[in-house]
Order: sequence, then structure tokens, then C-alpha cells
Amino acid sequence: MKMRSVLAIAILATTTAAVLFLGSEAQEVKKDHHTYRISGSAGDVLEDDPVGRLKVYVYDLPAKYNTKLVEDDPRCLTHMFATEVFVHRSLLSSAVRTLDPEEADWFYAPVYTTCDLTASGHPMPFDSPRMMRAAIRLISWRWPYWNRTEGADHFFVTPHDFGACFHFKEAKAVARGILPVLRRATLVQTFGQSGHACMKEEGGGSITVPPYAPPGRMEARLLPPGTPRSVFAYFRGLFYDAGNDPGGGYYARGARAAVWENFRSSPLFDISAERPATYYEDMQRAVFCLCPLGWAPWSPRLVEAVVFGCIPVVIADGIVLPFADAIPWAEIGVFVAEEDVPRLDTILTSIPPEEVLRKQRFLASPAVKRAVQFPQPSQPGDAFHQILNGLARKLPHGEGVFLSPGQTVLNWTDGPPGDLKPW
Ligand SMILES: *[C@@H]1O[C@H](CO)[C@@H](O)[C@H](O)[C@H]1NC(C)=O
Ligand SMILES: *[C@@H]1O[C@H](CO)[C@@H](O)[C@H](O)[C@H]1NC(C)=O
Repeated sequence: MKMRSVLAIAILATTTAAVLFLGSEAQEVKKDHHTYRISGSAGDVLEDDPVGRLKVYVYDLPAKYNTKLVEDDPRCLTHMFATEVFVHRSLLSSAVRTLDPEEADWFYAPVYTTCDLTASGHPMPFDSPRMMRAAIRLISWRWPYWNRTEGADHFFVTPHDFGACFHFKEAKAVARGILPVLRRATLVQTFGQSGHACMKEEGGGSITVPPYAPPGRMEARLLPPGTPRSVFAYFRGLFYDAGNDPGGGYYARGARAAVWENFRSSPLFDISAERPATYYEDMQRAVFCLCPLGWAPWSPRLVEAVVFGCIPVVIADGIVLPFADAIPWAEIGVFVAEEDVPRLDTILTSIPPEEVLRKQRFLASPAVKRAVQFPQPSQPGDAFHQILNGLARKLPHGEGVFLSPGQTVLNWTDGPPGDLKPW
């Protein structure tokens, strides 16, 4: 019974034209000329224009650190770590770029550390620390700007599973910690988990961004608005990773296994480890899309869910979501604790239909959809602009950013011996 009413509402939501719905906490979606502006605690900075609020200097590094890698393996342009490529490209033609380093607020070094792929397309982060160290050595010798701050006015894009910890297994990533030479820099990363060794929180050291999902590919598959959402909860992906986690329980901290064991034969759940050709269409026919953690808390499913208007059900304790200071995630998604996975059916069916409808209306906002994507060329309000907004909000630089002449803080000989070898 419950399910039927949710579905009815879901179908209604996709055909409802009026989007003037006021919530309790001053959250509102207002119809502006061509777009909906979301205002409230988080949403009101989503459409900020960063141009004029910061200037970024882009280091010109040898091609072996960036473009040569993409030439050698173009798969780096479409995988979920491609943020590092598109931020670079967008910056080169951005109005915030300055060619005069003396007037820069921020310095950016384009190093594509995840563009080292196995035959099957998985990024291998094992050389990333050496590569990153080599790039920083180079900029610290060739330009005077690194030594002034030892990186505190520099940012790097580190989109790997656990950011600048450079390992896909959490325990190993934690044991490594953030690469020592990046410890003063701002890290633009997809990884986000509060209180985690791979997350810089003091002074807002990390900016959590959405993983890359190809905008053109998704747009080409959009179904007509009003397509009924006849599936209650949808998920495609691994439940177990037998190859890397033979014992089970380590991968996804057991949460995906729990989804499978509890709901594989539930009529409410359309879940499978096999990814069909109609994956994008299927998400547009579902009310809820499960976004459980995998090796790391994040996955492209969150972006796909937003683009396809499917309410993301985030199962990843302590996750810090992309642009959490700008996107009203609490209004959009459903958050389920990992230990509550066995009750997932009850949790989802207990959400009142009007709440489902309200979330779907937030999801329908073009501003939110724009903010999680990296179109090429970049467009106002997109994820690239949200990164710039995040950097602009950290200005002016506070005390402690600029070191006194001769002062050094970083320890260049810290870290595993293998990482210290030249790259
Ligand atoms: C920056 O400092 C390092 C030593 O910490 C030194 O080797 C390098 O030459 C300095 N860079 C510049 C441009 O002076
Ligand atoms: C730098 O790190 C290395 C390795 O952890 C350590 O042996 C050394 O004492 C550190 N140097 C300083 C000045 O802290």
C-alpha cells in the first residue's frame, strides 16, 4: 500500500509544473526567468559568479605531467577521475586565470596523478606520490612562489579514491596519510569523509568535488519528462569484490553485501551486479537510487542520480558530499547509516509521499544538476565554477599562509622510502 502511494506521488512529481514549494526552514525554490534559484542555508551561493573574486596562476609544467599522459591513454578523459583533466582545461581558458603570478591569489599545478591505468582501466596510484613530489620539486626550484608559503596558496586536484593518500584500500591510505609535501596545500578531491586522515579539515583544507560523469553521454540518454518512475529502489554494481577482498566484509565495510543479502529477492528492490545497457534509462524510471560506499565513500552514482532525478540514498557513514556548503544535500537525498542497511526497505517506505515529492522538486533544479557536472567548455554554475567559488570563499589568505624568509615547515624526507625516489 505504502509503495503504491509513493509511486503515485513519484509519477505526479514528474508531471507537476508548479515548483513553488516552501519548506519549513526558509528553503525555497523560486521560479526565476529561465531557471530555479534555490535559496536557504546552503543553496544561496550555488549561483555565485567567481569571476572578479579570485585570480589563479597556472604553472606551465612539462607535458609528461599532464597532456602527454592523456595522449597515451585517452581513457583518462572519461573515467570517474577525469576531474583532474577538465579542471586544467577549464582553467586555461577561464576569466579567473592570470598570466601574471605576482597578482595571483592561488597557484595551480596541473599534475594528472590518476592517469596511469591498468589494461582494464583502473587507475594505479602507486607512482602518484613520486610524480607529485617531482612536480612540486620542479615548481619550487623554477618559480619563487612555492617557497613563500610552502604550498599554502597552491591547490592541486587529487581525485583518487582517498585523495592525496594515494591508495584505494582505506587502511593503507590511512597509514600513508596525505603526501607530506601537500600538507599545506588546498586539495580539490572527490574523497570526503569527516575526521579522516585523508581529509584536510582545518582551515577548510580540502574542497570535495563530484566525481566525473560524462555530461554529453548522460544528456543523450535523457527520457522525456514525465516518464513514470515505476521502480522503487535501484542499484547496479558490485556487492562483493572477491578479487581484492577475498574474505569479504572489508569492501564497502560490508554495506553492499548487506544490501544484497537482505534485499536480493525483495520486490521493492531492483538490484544486480550486472550493469545493463539501459543503466541510465533505468535510473530515470526509479524513485530511489542507492549510492552505497565502495572502496571509498563516493561514487559516480550520486552525480548520475542527480542528473536523472532519482533520489540518491547515500549509505556511507561520515561522508562529506561535494560542495556541501553550496548544494542542499539534506533536502535532496536520503541518508542511511551503514548499520541500518537491513532496515532499508522500512526506512524508504516510511518516507511520506510529500517528502518524496519535495525531494524530487529539489532534484529537478537545473542549478543543482549543473553544479555536479563538468561540461566542456565550462558553463556558469557548473562544478568547475563551484570549485572556483570554494577557492574564492577561502580568501583573503589568513595568517600563517606566508612564511617568514628562510622559514621551512614541510619535511621533504618524510614518507615511505619508495615515494622518495625520483620520478
Ligand atoms: C626553494 O627552497 C629550496 C630549499 O628548500 C631551494 O632548493 C630552492 O632553490 C628554493 N627556490 C627558489 C626559487 O629559490
Ligand atoms: C623528517 O622525516 C623523517 C622521516 O619520517 C624523519 O626521520 C626526520 O626526523 C624528519 N625531520 C624533521 C626535521 O622533522
